Amino acid sequence: MQSKSLTVNQRVEPVTAEVNEKNHLSIGAIDVVDLAAKFGTPLWIICEETVRQAAHAVLDGLKDYPLATPSYAGKAFLCLAMAALVKDLGFGIDVVSEGELLTALQAGFAPEKIFLHGNNKSAVELKLAVEKSGVKIVVDSLSELEDIIALAKEAGSRVPVMFRIIPGIELDTHEHIKTGHDTSKFGIPLEELSQLVRLALANNEQIELLGLHAHIGSQAMDMAPYLQFVDVMADLYASIQQKFDYILPDLDLGGGLGIAYTSEDQPLSLRDWSRALSERVKSAFAARSLPLPVLSLEPGRSIIGTAGVTIYQVGHVKELQSAAKNYLPIDGGMADNPRPITYQAKYTAVVANRMVGEPSREKAWTIVGRYCESGDIIVEEVVLDAKRGDLIAVYATGAYNYSMSSNYNRTGRPACVLVKDGQAEVILARETCTDLLKQDRMPSWLAPVILPG
Ligand code: LLP
Repeated sequence: MQSKSLTVNQRVEPVTAEVNEKNHLSIGAIDVVDLAAKFGTPLWIICEETVRQAAHAVLDGLKDYPLATPSYAGKAFLCLAMAALVKDLGFGIDVVSEGELLTALQAGFAPEKIFLHGNNKSAVELKLAVEKSGVKIVVDSLSELEDIIALAKEAGSRVPVMFRIIPGIELDTHEHIKTGHDTSKFGIPLEELSQLVRLALANNEQIELLGLHAHIGSQAMDMAPYLQFVDVMADLYASIQQKFDYILPDLDLGGGLGIAYTSEDQPLSLRDWSRALSERVKSAFAARSLPLPVLSLEPGRSIIGTAGVTIYQVGHVKELQSAAKNYLPIDGGMADNPRPITYQAKYTAVVANRMVGEPSREKAWTIVGRYCESGDIIVEEVVLDAKRGDLIAVYATGAYNYSMSSNYNRTGRPACVLVKDGQAEVILARETCTDLLKQDRMPSWLAPVILPG
Protein backbone atom coordinates (compact mmCIF):
# COMPACT_ATOMS: atom_id res chain seq x y z
CA MET A 1 0.00 0.00 0.00
CA GLN A 2 1.18 3.51 -0.76
CA SER A 3 1.60 6.10 1.92
CA LYS A 4 -1.63 7.29 3.49
CA SER A 5 -0.24 10.81 3.36
CA LEU A 6 -0.77 10.90 -0.39
CA THR A 7 -4.19 12.27 -1.25
CA VAL A 8 -6.85 10.61 -3.28
CA ASN A 9 -5.64 11.17 -6.86
CA GLN A 10 -1.98 10.80 -5.88
CA ARG A 11 -2.15 7.24 -4.54
CA VAL A 12 -2.68 4.30 -6.82
CA GLU A 13 -5.11 2.41 -4.57
CA PRO A 14 -8.55 3.45 -3.32
CA VAL A 15 -8.34 5.23 0.03
CA THR A 16 -9.95 2.26 1.81
CA ALA A 17 -7.56 -0.37 0.39
CA GLU A 18 -6.00 -2.56 3.07
CA VAL A 19 -4.33 -5.90 3.52
CA ASN A 20 -6.52 -7.92 5.89
CA GLU A 21 -5.59 -10.67 8.36
CA LYS A 22 -5.93 -13.30 5.61
CA ASN A 23 -3.28 -11.46 3.55
CA HIS A 24 -6.04 -10.50 1.10
CA LEU A 25 -6.79 -7.13 -0.40
CA SER A 26 -9.81 -5.48 1.11
CA ILE A 27 -11.61 -2.44 -0.28
CA GLY A 28 -14.41 -0.59 1.46
CA ALA A 29 -13.89 -3.01 4.38
CA ILE A 30 -14.73 -6.04 2.21
CA ASP A 31 -12.41 -8.86 1.29
CA VAL A 32 -11.88 -8.77 -2.46
CA VAL A 33 -11.65 -12.57 -2.57
CA ASP A 34 -15.22 -12.69 -1.24
CA LEU A 35 -16.32 -10.13 -3.81
CA ALA A 36 -14.85 -12.22 -6.63
CA ALA A 37 -16.55 -15.36 -5.26
CA LYS A 38 -19.90 -13.62 -5.01
CA PHE A 39 -19.94 -11.52 -8.18
CA GLY A 40 -17.49 -13.38 -10.45
CA THR A 41 -14.52 -12.10 -12.44
CA PRO A 42 -13.57 -9.92 -14.17
CA LEU A 43 -15.09 -7.51 -11.72
CA TRP A 44 -14.96 -3.75 -11.56
CA ILE A 45 -15.01 -2.47 -7.99
CA ILE A 46 -15.68 1.19 -7.18
CA CYS A 47 -14.87 2.53 -3.72
CA GLU A 48 -17.45 5.14 -2.76
CA GLU A 49 -15.27 6.72 -0.08
CA THR A 50 -12.57 7.47 -2.64
CA VAL A 51 -15.06 9.29 -4.85
CA ARG A 52 -16.33 11.22 -1.84
CA GLN A 53 -12.83 12.25 -0.77
CA ALA A 54 -11.98 13.34 -4.30
CA ALA A 55 -15.10 15.48 -4.55
CA HIS A 56 -14.46 17.01 -1.14
CA ALA A 57 -10.89 17.84 -2.16
CA VAL A 58 -12.25 19.88 -5.07
CA LEU A 59 -14.82 21.62 -2.86
CA ASP A 60 -12.10 22.36 -0.33
CA GLY A 61 -9.82 23.80 -3.02
CA LEU A 62 -12.64 26.07 -4.20
CA LYS A 63 -13.87 27.18 -0.79
CA ASP A 64 -12.36 30.67 -1.03
CA TYR A 65 -13.82 31.29 -4.45
CA PRO A 66 -17.27 32.80 -4.02
CA LEU A 67 -18.99 31.48 -7.15
CA ALA A 68 -17.74 28.00 -7.87
CA THR A 69 -19.83 25.23 -9.43
CA PRO A 70 -17.77 22.06 -9.92
CA SER A 71 -19.03 19.40 -12.28
CA TYR A 72 -18.09 15.80 -12.87
CA ALA A 73 -17.11 14.78 -16.42
CA GLY A 74 -19.40 11.80 -16.93
CA LYS A 75 -17.41 10.42 -19.83
CA ALA A 76 -14.85 9.09 -17.34
CA PHE A 77 -17.41 6.68 -15.83
CA LEU A 78 -21.16 7.05 -15.83
CA CYS A 79 -24.10 4.94 -14.80
CA LEU A 80 -27.16 5.77 -12.71
CA ALA A 81 -25.42 5.07 -9.40
CA MET A 82 -22.40 7.22 -10.24
CA ALA A 83 -24.65 10.05 -11.39
CA ALA A 84 -26.62 9.80 -8.14
CA LEU A 85 -23.41 9.80 -6.11
CA VAL A 86 -21.96 12.94 -7.70
CA LYS A 87 -25.33 14.63 -7.46
CA ASP A 88 -25.38 13.83 -3.76
CA LEU A 89 -21.94 15.44 -3.48
CA GLY A 90 -23.34 18.70 -4.84
CA PHE A 91 -21.58 18.52 -8.19
CA GLY A 92 -23.03 19.37 -11.57
CA ILE A 93 -22.43 16.99 -14.45
CA ASP A 94 -20.98 17.09 -17.97
CA VAL A 95 -22.50 14.82 -20.57
CA VAL A 96 -21.50 14.18 -24.17
CA SER A 97 -24.25 12.03 -25.63
CA GLU A 98 -27.94 11.29 -25.47
CA GLY A 99 -27.13 8.25 -23.30
CA GLU A 100 -25.17 10.29 -20.77
CA LEU A 101 -27.79 13.06 -20.79
CA LEU A 102 -30.63 10.63 -20.14
CA THR A 103 -28.60 8.96 -17.40
CA ALA A 104 -28.05 12.30 -15.64
CA LEU A 105 -31.71 13.26 -15.95
CA GLN A 106 -32.89 9.87 -14.75
CA ALA A 107 -30.58 10.11 -11.74
CA GLY A 108 -32.41 13.30 -10.83
CA PHE A 109 -30.05 16.05 -11.97
CA ALA A 110 -31.81 19.38 -12.47
CA PRO A 111 -31.30 20.46 -16.10
CA GLU A 112 -29.47 23.60 -14.90
CA LYS A 113 -26.77 21.37 -13.38
CA ILE A 114 -26.07 19.62 -16.70
CA PHE A 115 -23.61 20.73 -19.39
CA LEU A 116 -23.89 19.11 -22.82
CA HIS A 117 -20.54 18.87 -24.59
CA GLY A 118 -19.40 17.35 -27.86
CA ASN A 119 -17.76 18.41 -31.10
CA ASN A 120 -20.52 16.94 -33.27
CA LYS A 121 -23.72 16.74 -31.25
CA SER A 122 -26.59 15.08 -33.07
CA ALA A 123 -29.87 16.80 -33.88
CA VAL A 124 -31.55 14.48 -31.36
CA GLU A 125 -29.10 15.47 -28.61
CA LEU A 126 -29.48 19.20 -29.27
CA LYS A 127 -33.27 18.94 -29.40
CA LEU A 128 -33.39 17.01 -26.14
CA ALA A 129 -31.14 19.57 -24.43
CA VAL A 130 -33.23 22.49 -25.70
CA GLU A 131 -36.48 20.82 -24.65
CA LYS A 132 -35.16 20.06 -21.15
CA SER A 133 -35.06 23.73 -20.52
CA GLY A 134 -32.00 24.78 -18.52
CA VAL A 135 -29.40 22.34 -19.83
CA LYS A 136 -26.28 24.35 -20.70
CA ILE A 137 -24.99 23.61 -24.16
CA VAL A 138 -21.26 23.95 -24.71
CA VAL A 139 -21.21 25.06 -28.33
CA ASP A 140 -18.37 23.75 -30.47
CA SER A 141 -18.93 25.45 -33.83
CA LEU A 142 -20.77 28.20 -35.69
CA SER A 143 -23.12 25.82 -37.46
CA GLU A 144 -24.04 24.22 -34.15
CA LEU A 145 -24.94 27.66 -32.77
CA GLU A 146 -27.12 28.30 -35.81
CA ASP A 147 -28.93 25.01 -35.23
CA ILE A 148 -29.49 25.83 -31.55
CA ILE A 149 -30.96 29.22 -32.45
CA ALA A 150 -33.37 27.51 -34.85
CA LEU A 151 -34.33 24.87 -32.28
CA ALA A 152 -34.85 27.53 -29.60
CA LYS A 153 -37.12 29.51 -31.93
CA GLU A 154 -39.15 26.38 -32.61
CA ALA A 155 -39.42 25.55 -28.91
CA GLY A 156 -39.98 29.16 -27.88
CA SER A 157 -37.19 28.88 -25.32
CA ARG A 158 -33.96 30.64 -24.36
CA VAL A 159 -30.95 28.33 -24.23
CA PRO A 160 -27.99 28.95 -21.91
CA VAL A 161 -24.76 28.36 -23.84
CA MET A 162 -21.01 28.44 -23.35
CA PHE A 163 -18.58 28.63 -26.26
CA ARG A 164 -15.80 26.07 -26.29
CA ILE A 165 -12.72 27.67 -27.73
CA ILE A 166 -9.30 26.44 -28.83
CA PRO A 167 -6.99 28.21 -26.39
CA GLY A 168 -3.73 27.22 -28.12
CA ILE A 169 -2.23 25.53 -25.06
CA GLU A 170 0.01 22.51 -25.47
CA LEU A 171 -0.23 19.98 -22.64
CA ASP A 172 2.56 17.52 -21.94
CA THR A 173 0.54 14.32 -22.23
CA HIS A 174 -0.26 11.54 -24.71
CA GLU A 175 -0.95 12.88 -28.22
CA HIS A 176 -4.49 11.42 -28.22
CA ILE A 177 -5.59 13.19 -25.06
CA LYS A 178 -4.37 16.70 -25.88
CA THR A 179 -7.28 19.00 -26.69
CA GLY A 180 -6.16 22.61 -26.24
CA HIS A 181 -3.56 22.80 -29.03
CA ASP A 182 -4.06 24.85 -32.20
CA THR A 183 -5.02 21.92 -34.43
CA SER A 184 -7.56 20.40 -31.99
CA LYS A 185 -10.79 19.04 -33.46
CA PHE A 186 -12.57 20.41 -30.37
CA GLY A 187 -13.63 23.99 -30.03
CA ILE A 188 -14.01 27.21 -31.92
CA PRO A 189 -10.90 28.75 -33.45
CA LEU A 190 -10.20 32.12 -31.85
CA GLU A 191 -10.48 33.97 -35.15
CA GLU A 192 -14.15 32.88 -35.37
CA LEU A 193 -15.07 33.76 -31.81
CA SER A 194 -16.27 37.32 -32.49
CA GLN A 195 -18.60 36.07 -35.18
CA LEU A 196 -20.23 33.65 -32.73
CA VAL A 197 -20.48 36.25 -29.97
CA ARG A 198 -22.13 38.66 -32.39
CA LEU A 199 -24.62 36.03 -33.53
CA ALA A 200 -25.45 35.01 -29.96
CA LEU A 201 -26.00 38.60 -28.84
CA ALA A 202 -28.11 39.34 -31.91
CA ASN A 203 -30.32 36.40 -30.95
CA ASN A 204 -30.59 37.30 -27.32
CA GLU A 205 -34.15 35.99 -27.11
CA GLN A 206 -33.01 32.50 -28.00
CA ILE A 207 -29.49 32.48 -26.60
CA GLU A 208 -28.23 33.31 -23.14
CA LEU A 209 -24.48 33.64 -23.63
CA LEU A 210 -22.90 32.55 -20.34
CA GLY A 211 -19.23 32.43 -21.13
CA LEU A 212 -16.30 30.54 -22.57
CA HIS A 213 -15.13 27.01 -22.00
CA ALA A 214 -11.99 25.08 -22.82
CA HIS A 215 -10.41 21.82 -21.76
CA ILE A 216 -6.70 21.66 -22.45
CA GLY A 217 -6.26 17.89 -22.22
CA SER A 218 -6.07 15.00 -19.83
CA GLN A 219 -3.73 13.31 -17.36
CA ALA A 220 -2.01 16.65 -16.65
CA MET A 221 0.57 16.48 -13.90
CA ASP A 222 1.36 20.10 -13.10
CA MET A 223 0.00 23.58 -12.99
CA ALA A 224 2.05 25.63 -15.46
CA PRO A 225 -0.11 25.10 -18.58
CA TYR A 226 -3.25 25.79 -16.56
CA LEU A 227 -1.96 29.15 -15.34
CA GLN A 228 -1.12 30.18 -18.87
CA PHE A 229 -4.57 28.96 -19.92
CA VAL A 230 -6.39 31.11 -17.32
CA ASP A 231 -4.55 34.17 -18.63
CA VAL A 232 -5.63 33.38 -22.20
CA MET A 233 -9.24 33.11 -21.00
CA ALA A 234 -9.06 36.34 -18.99
CA ASP A 235 -7.70 38.18 -22.06
CA LEU A 236 -10.63 36.90 -24.10
CA TYR A 237 -13.14 38.06 -21.45
CA ALA A 238 -11.52 41.48 -21.49
CA SER A 239 -11.57 41.74 -25.27
CA ILE A 240 -15.22 40.62 -25.48
CA GLN A 241 -16.13 43.21 -22.90
CA GLN A 242 -14.34 45.90 -24.88
CA LYS A 243 -15.61 44.90 -28.27
CA PHE A 244 -19.22 44.04 -27.39
CA ASP A 245 -19.71 45.86 -24.10
CA TYR A 246 -20.81 42.51 -22.73
CA ILE A 247 -19.60 40.88 -19.54
CA LEU A 248 -19.56 37.11 -19.75
CA PRO A 249 -20.85 35.90 -16.38
CA ASP A 250 -19.48 32.33 -16.36
CA LEU A 251 -16.16 30.60 -17.03
CA ASP A 252 -15.50 26.89 -17.45
CA LEU A 253 -11.92 25.63 -17.34
CA GLY A 254 -12.55 21.95 -18.08
CA GLY A 255 -10.88 19.07 -16.27
CA GLY A 256 -7.74 17.13 -16.97
CA LEU A 257 -5.92 16.68 -13.68
CA GLY A 258 -3.94 13.43 -13.70
CA ILE A 259 -3.86 10.53 -11.27
CA ALA A 260 -1.22 8.05 -10.17
CA TYR A 261 -1.38 4.83 -12.18
CA THR A 262 1.97 3.73 -10.82
CA SER A 263 4.07 4.95 -7.91
CA GLU A 264 6.16 6.92 -10.42
CA ASP A 265 3.27 9.23 -11.30
CA GLN A 266 3.23 12.31 -9.10
CA PRO A 267 0.24 14.46 -9.97
CA LEU A 268 -0.67 17.61 -8.15
CA SER A 269 -3.40 17.05 -5.57
CA LEU A 270 -7.00 17.78 -6.51
CA ARG A 271 -7.23 20.34 -3.75
CA ASP A 272 -4.09 22.20 -4.84
CA TRP A 273 -5.17 22.08 -8.49
CA SER A 274 -8.61 23.54 -7.87
CA ARG A 275 -7.24 26.08 -5.42
CA ALA A 276 -4.46 27.24 -7.74
CA LEU A 277 -6.88 27.52 -10.66
CA SER A 278 -9.44 29.54 -8.73
CA GLU A 279 -6.78 31.80 -7.22
CA ARG A 280 -5.39 32.46 -10.69
CA VAL A 281 -8.87 33.32 -11.96
CA LYS A 282 -9.21 35.82 -9.11
CA SER A 283 -5.90 37.53 -9.86
CA ALA A 284 -6.18 37.40 -13.67
CA PHE A 285 -9.69 38.85 -13.67
CA ALA A 286 -8.83 41.50 -11.08
CA ALA A 287 -5.79 42.54 -13.12
CA ARG A 288 -8.09 43.22 -16.07
CA SER A 289 -10.73 44.94 -13.91
CA LEU A 290 -13.22 42.21 -14.75
CA PRO A 291 -15.84 40.97 -12.29
CA LEU A 292 -15.31 37.43 -11.00
CA PRO A 293 -17.09 34.89 -13.17
CA VAL A 294 -19.04 31.89 -11.89
CA LEU A 295 -16.30 29.28 -12.15
CA SER A 296 -16.85 25.70 -13.32
CA LEU A 297 -14.26 22.94 -13.29
CA GLU A 298 -15.05 19.53 -14.70
CA PRO A 299 -12.68 16.84 -13.49
CA GLY A 300 -13.44 13.27 -14.52
CA ARG A 301 -10.46 10.96 -14.12
CA SER A 302 -9.28 12.51 -10.85
CA ILE A 303 -12.71 11.95 -9.26
CA ILE A 304 -13.25 8.31 -10.24
CA GLY A 305 -9.87 6.99 -11.43
CA THR A 306 -8.29 5.68 -8.26
CA ALA A 307 -11.68 4.64 -6.83
CA GLY A 308 -11.74 1.77 -9.34
CA VAL A 309 -10.02 -1.59 -9.11
CA THR A 310 -10.45 -4.47 -11.54
CA ILE A 311 -10.25 -8.05 -10.32
CA TYR A 312 -9.30 -10.79 -12.73
CA GLN A 313 -8.59 -14.48 -12.33
CA VAL A 314 -5.38 -16.01 -13.66
CA GLY A 315 -5.88 -18.79 -16.20
CA HIS A 316 -3.47 -20.92 -18.24
CA VAL A 317 -0.04 -19.62 -17.31
CA LYS A 318 2.70 -19.80 -19.93
CA GLU A 319 6.44 -19.65 -19.35
CA LEU A 320 8.45 -19.31 -22.55
CA GLN A 321 11.81 -20.67 -21.40
CA SER A 322 13.82 -19.83 -24.50
CA ALA A 323 12.33 -16.36 -24.86
CA ALA A 324 12.58 -15.74 -21.09
CA LYS A 325 9.02 -14.47 -21.02
CA ASN A 326 6.40 -15.38 -18.44
CA TYR A 327 2.79 -14.77 -19.33
CA LEU A 328 0.07 -14.45 -16.73
CA PRO A 329 -3.19 -14.62 -18.69
CA ILE A 330 -6.24 -13.09 -17.07
CA ASP A 331 -9.91 -13.55 -17.84
CA GLY A 332 -10.35 -9.96 -19.07
CA GLY A 333 -8.10 -7.47 -20.83
CA MET A 334 -8.39 -4.91 -23.57
CA ALA A 335 -12.18 -5.14 -23.85
CA ASP A 336 -12.63 -3.99 -20.24
CA ASN A 337 -9.47 -1.85 -20.20
CA PRO A 338 -8.48 -0.56 -23.63
CA ARG A 339 -6.13 2.09 -22.20
CA PRO A 340 -2.86 0.13 -22.43
CA ILE A 341 -3.36 -0.80 -26.07
CA THR A 342 -4.70 2.66 -26.93
CA TYR A 343 -2.33 4.93 -25.02
CA GLN A 344 0.41 2.56 -23.84
CA ALA A 345 -0.93 3.32 -20.37
CA LYS A 346 0.89 1.77 -17.42
CA TYR A 347 -0.90 0.08 -14.52
CA THR A 348 -0.10 -1.42 -11.14
CA ALA A 349 -1.11 -5.00 -10.39
CA VAL A 350 -1.04 -7.14 -7.23
CA VAL A 351 -2.13 -10.64 -6.26
CA ALA A 352 -5.30 -9.89 -4.31
CA ASN A 353 -5.44 -13.27 -2.54
CA ARG A 354 -1.76 -13.16 -1.50
CA MET A 355 -0.84 -9.55 -1.00
CA VAL A 356 2.49 -10.38 0.59
CA GLY A 357 3.98 -13.15 -1.55
CA GLU A 358 6.75 -15.63 -0.95
CA PRO A 359 9.93 -13.98 -2.32
CA SER A 360 11.40 -17.29 -3.49
CA ARG A 361 8.39 -17.80 -5.79
CA GLU A 362 8.44 -14.33 -7.27
CA LYS A 363 9.20 -13.74 -10.91
CA ALA A 364 8.63 -11.13 -13.58
CA TRP A 365 5.26 -11.66 -15.25
CA THR A 366 3.62 -9.97 -18.18
CA ILE A 367 -0.09 -9.81 -17.49
CA VAL A 368 -1.92 -10.46 -20.73
CA GLY A 369 -5.59 -10.35 -21.58
CA ARG A 370 -7.71 -13.06 -23.14
CA TYR A 371 -8.46 -11.19 -26.35
CA CYS A 372 -7.15 -12.11 -29.77
CA GLU A 373 -4.57 -9.34 -30.08
CA SER A 374 -0.87 -9.53 -29.27
CA GLY A 375 -1.10 -5.98 -27.93
CA ASP A 376 -3.61 -7.03 -25.29
CA ILE A 377 -1.13 -6.53 -22.46
CA ILE A 378 -2.40 -5.02 -19.23
CA VAL A 379 0.90 -4.81 -17.30
CA GLU A 380 4.40 -5.48 -18.63
CA GLU A 381 6.97 -7.20 -16.42
CA VAL A 382 5.64 -7.02 -12.90
CA VAL A 383 7.32 -9.05 -10.18
CA LEU A 384 4.72 -11.22 -8.43
CA ASP A 385 4.33 -14.51 -6.63
CA ALA A 386 1.45 -15.65 -8.82
CA LYS A 387 -0.06 -18.84 -10.20
CA ARG A 388 -3.12 -20.20 -11.92
CA GLY A 389 -6.34 -19.48 -10.05
CA ASP A 390 -4.99 -16.41 -8.27
CA LEU A 391 -6.87 -13.14 -8.32
CA ILE A 392 -5.09 -10.17 -9.85
CA ALA A 393 -6.14 -6.68 -8.80
CA VAL A 394 -5.32 -3.87 -11.22
CA TYR A 395 -5.54 -0.46 -9.57
CA ALA A 396 -6.76 2.90 -10.85
CA THR A 397 -9.17 1.49 -13.41
CA GLY A 398 -12.13 3.68 -12.43
CA ALA A 399 -11.77 6.18 -15.28
CA TYR A 400 -12.12 5.42 -18.98
CA ASN A 401 -12.30 1.65 -18.51
CA TYR A 402 -16.02 0.88 -18.38
CA SER A 403 -16.74 3.96 -20.51
CA MET A 404 -14.37 2.80 -23.25
CA SER A 405 -15.04 -0.92 -22.90
CA SER A 406 -16.24 -3.10 -25.76
CA ASN A 407 -17.69 -6.49 -26.59
CA TYR A 408 -14.57 -7.50 -28.53
CA ASN A 409 -14.49 -11.21 -29.33
CA ARG A 410 -18.19 -11.16 -28.44
CA THR A 411 -17.64 -11.11 -24.72
CA GLY A 412 -19.90 -9.38 -22.22
CA ARG A 413 -18.75 -6.52 -20.05
CA PRO A 414 -17.87 -7.30 -16.41
CA ALA A 415 -20.18 -6.46 -13.54
CA CYS A 416 -19.40 -3.41 -11.45
CA VAL A 417 -19.98 -3.23 -7.70
CA LEU A 418 -19.97 -0.20 -5.46
CA VAL A 419 -18.40 -0.86 -2.05
CA LYS A 420 -18.81 1.12 1.10
CA ASP A 421 -18.38 0.33 4.80
CA GLY A 422 -18.61 -3.44 4.37
CA GLN A 423 -21.47 -3.33 1.87
CA ALA A 424 -21.22 -4.21 -1.81
CA GLU A 425 -23.96 -3.80 -4.38
CA VAL A 426 -24.02 -4.25 -8.12
CA ILE A 427 -24.30 -0.97 -10.03
CA LEU A 428 -23.73 -2.46 -13.48
CA ALA A 429 -24.95 -5.98 -14.11
CA ARG A 430 -22.62 -8.37 -15.91
CA GLU A 431 -23.41 -8.62 -19.62
CA THR A 432 -24.13 -12.18 -20.62
CA CYS A 433 -23.92 -13.89 -23.99
CA THR A 434 -27.71 -13.84 -23.99
CA ASP A 435 -27.57 -10.04 -23.74
CA LEU A 436 -25.30 -9.93 -26.75
CA LEU A 437 -27.38 -12.38 -28.80
CA LYS A 438 -30.50 -10.39 -27.96
CA GLN A 439 -29.32 -7.63 -30.29
CA ASP A 440 -28.94 -9.99 -33.25
CA ARG A 441 -31.47 -10.14 -36.05
CA MET A 442 -31.57 -12.69 -38.83
CA PRO A 443 -32.32 -11.51 -42.38
CA SER A 444 -35.21 -13.39 -43.92
CA TRP A 445 -33.06 -14.97 -46.62
CA LEU A 446 -30.71 -16.60 -44.11
CA ALA A 447 -33.13 -17.58 -41.40
CA PRO A 448 -34.43 -20.74 -43.10
CA VAL A 449 -30.88 -22.05 -43.45
CA ILE A 450 -30.16 -22.15 -39.75
CA LEU A 451 -33.55 -22.56 -38.11
CA PRO A 452 -34.12 -26.10 -36.88
CA GLY A 453 -36.69 -28.20 -38.75
N1 LLP B 1 -14.13 18.26 -19.94
C1 LLP B 1 -14.03 18.00 -21.25
C2 LLP B 1 -14.62 18.91 -22.20
C3 LLP B 1 -13.37 16.85 -21.68
O1 LLP B 1 -13.27 16.60 -22.97
C4 LLP B 1 -12.83 15.97 -20.73
C5 LLP B 1 -12.16 14.74 -21.14
C6 LLP B 1 -12.99 16.28 -19.37
C7 LLP B 1 -13.62 17.44 -19.01
C8 LLP B 1 -12.48 15.40 -18.27
O2 LLP B 1 -11.11 15.23 -18.33
P1 LLP B 1 -10.36 14.40 -17.18
O3 LLP B 1 -10.48 15.18 -15.90
O4 LLP B 1 -11.04 13.09 -17.07
O5 LLP B 1 -8.98 14.28 -17.68
N2 LLP B 1 -9.92 8.33 -22.82
C9 LLP B 1 -8.78 9.10 -22.39
C10 LLP B 1 -9.20 10.41 -21.80
C11 LLP B 1 -10.06 11.25 -22.72
C12 LLP B 1 -10.50 12.52 -22.07
C13 LLP B 1 -11.52 13.19 -22.89
N3 LLP B 1 -12.01 14.40 -22.36
C14 LLP B 1 -7.96 8.28 -21.40
O6 LLP B 1 -8.36 7.17 -21.08
O7 LLP B 1 -6.91 8.72 -20.94
